[in-house]
Amino acid sequence: MKIIILNGSPKGDVSVTMQYVAYMQKKFPDHNYQTLNVAQDIRKIEKNEELFASLMETVRSADIVIWAFPLYYLLVCSQYKQFIELVFERQSGNVFSGKYTASLSTSIHFFDQTAHNYVHSICDDLDMKYCGFYSAEMMDLLKEEERNRFQKFLNLLFTAVKEKISFQRENAQLVFSSWSYVPGPEVKSFETSGKKVVILTDSRDKSANCQKMNDRLMQAFSLSAELVNLHDIDIRSGCLGCCRCGYDNVCVYSDGYHDFYIKLLGKADIIVMSGTVHDRYLSSTWKQFFDRSFFKGHIPGLKGKQIGFVISGPLAQLPYLREALSAWADNGGCHALFVTDEVGNSEKLDELLDATAIRLLRCAEAGYIPPPTFYSVGGHKIFRDNIYGNMRIAFQADYRYYKTHRMFDFPQKDFKTRIFNIFFTPLIKIRGIRKKVFSNLKHHMIKPFESVLKNA
Ligand SMILES: Cc1cc2nc3c(=O)[nH]c(=O)nc-3n(C[C@H](O)[C@H](O)[C@H](O)COP(=O)(O)O)c2cc1C
Repeated sequence: MKIIILNGSPKGDVSVTMQYVAYMQKKFPDHNYQTLNVAQDIRKIEKNEELFASLMETVRSADIVIWAFPLYYLLVCSQYKQFIELVFERQSGNVFSGKYTASLSTSIHFFDQTAHNYVHSICDDLDMKYCGFYSAEMMDLLKEEERNRFQKFLNLLFTAVKEKISFQRENAQLVFSSWSYVPGPEVKSFETSGKKVVILTDSRDKSANCQKMNDRLMQAFSLSAELVNLHDIDIRSGCLGCCRCGYDNVCVYSDGYHDFYIKLLGKADIIVMSGTVHDRYLSSTWKQFFDRSFFKGHIPGLKGKQIGFVISGPLAQLPYLREALSAWADNGGCHALFVTDEVGNSEKLDELLDATAIRLLRCAEAGYIPPPTFYSVGGHKIFRDNIYGNMRIAFQADYRYYKTHRMFDFPQKDFKTRIFNIFFTPLIKIRGIRKKVFSNLKHHMIKPFESVLKNA
């Protein structure tokens, strides 16, 4: 069978993900493989239409297409996203249509599911037969058990394709509304009381709902917000994945991104992030913004900020996009509010936008950040363990930050609980004590709150 690998690593062949592809080739040598470095070569592919056309012809010749990519900010990297955008923009979806496909990623398992959900839904939109995904931890290939597991996945995949078995489409087609928002003449303006508000957008179309929503918000923030277009920032390229920033948080690119992030966003109290749904995410320009913030490593660079996601498009049909944005904010120690134009009624949207502005201002004034949810509690543990362990040498800046901010909060450091456990574990094995403890467990659980409630 002819297997085409769409390599989503900006590092090209020198990529962790490509080691898994190389392993696949070694273990299944009877197939004919070809890897296309579509993320690394995106600039050339975008400019050279002939090159793009020849890539599409290669895809056309495939029996199986494998989307192989590293996780970048809960999704694929911006360069890969741009490749996907080109496929749709240049109406080349037909070469993918009807082909068997699967996705393969490497990561540290931080939101690998949102990335695979995205690629899966893109495959559904391309009318492909999506057979499943394989999400490997970066180092899995070094373990025999994991190599066996990977081989089983590939075996099942190749057998399914050989036997031409059926796969069901799982993601319904998106329904986009053509409704045009007309902001009302009556505008509520709120005092920003010294709070710095930045509205960040990628919209270049004055007649688009997104732009009109931004205009309305500008008015609601008494014209004191700063409106910044991502296209006007000097951003040379997407993240290269070189990790050279890991030592001291300095990116290899000396373009405008660093100052924009630190001097503008870093000083804001409220950041409105406004964009339009582009395929099943926001645009690759927005993705580039997220990816390039990796110069901060795993340090929450925008901690404590209010984030307003202002989105034009069918967000309610894209639970994984909402999840990715919420998780990004939660994990970064921010508070996220959403507003979209799905309401389909100008008067109502006026009200919602005004309400979003006042809610963001009130939360900023109160300094309210909600308690972390699973997104951030789980994320913290993944990062903490990796930065303490095998990522420590490459991510020295993270290590210093985590140490200074007491973020290496491993349970074994909690001496009180350890002593308690050492003492009580043998006791609980005694039937009489166990019976007494468990019959009264719910009372034990609320006992620590007594003094707080008494003094409240
Ligand atoms: C900019 C950037 C963003 C990343 N984001 C994530 C992420 O959201 N989740 C995750 O588990 N790993 C993330 N990673 C780790 C990579 O997915 C991981 O190192 C991967 O194995 C790299 O593969 P490659 O060498 O093929 O590019 C990120 C790495 C970089 C450089």
